[in-house]
Amino acid sequence: MLEVVTLGHPALRRRAEPVAEVTPELRRLADEMLAVMKQHEGVGLAATQVNRMVRLFVTRAPDDRERVFINPEIIRTGIETEWREEGCLSIPGPRADVQRPAHLRVQARNRRGRLFALEVEGMLARVILHELDHLNGILFIDHLSDAERERVCREYAEGHAEASAGDADRDAG
Ligand code: NI
Repeated sequence: MLEVVTLGHPALRRRAEPVAEVTPELRRLADEMLAVMKQHEGVGLAATQVNRMVRLFVTRAPDDRERVFINPEIIRTGIETEWREEGCLSIPGPRADVQRPAHLRVQARNRRGRLFALEVEGMLARVILHELDHLNGILFIDHLSDAERERVCREYAEGHAEASAGDADRDAG
């Protein structure tokens, strides 16, 4: 089983490389990532979080099916932004409100390598932006004020020390 790396691991700060071809091996990685995401009850998981430097992430937003995004690109974002609470499987425990575009159009290849485009809003838009950040070595804490980032890192460190996972990962990506 793939292991989700956590805050401090260098993989989380690296930029993933574009996928040249959707091979059976890549499909297997996507399937394993879907399984790991479900196991952690997460809403999204990026390849960099399992130490694979390819532009691939998977999502499982509430009221949405499982999705695979390969070489994802944001084609357009709306002007409107919204604040939503985020968590991250690589920073299990703490959550914080992050401001991001509310609407966007994303293009990617699916698990079969077919190009698709989607207009999204709400939780799925939020998850896509969070996961795309991961592929560029960016974490949700990078969007926070210094005070909020310190709070999240402190809570993470404390929770980590207690090693009480519980359902703290729920709805994280
Ligand atoms: Ni995350």
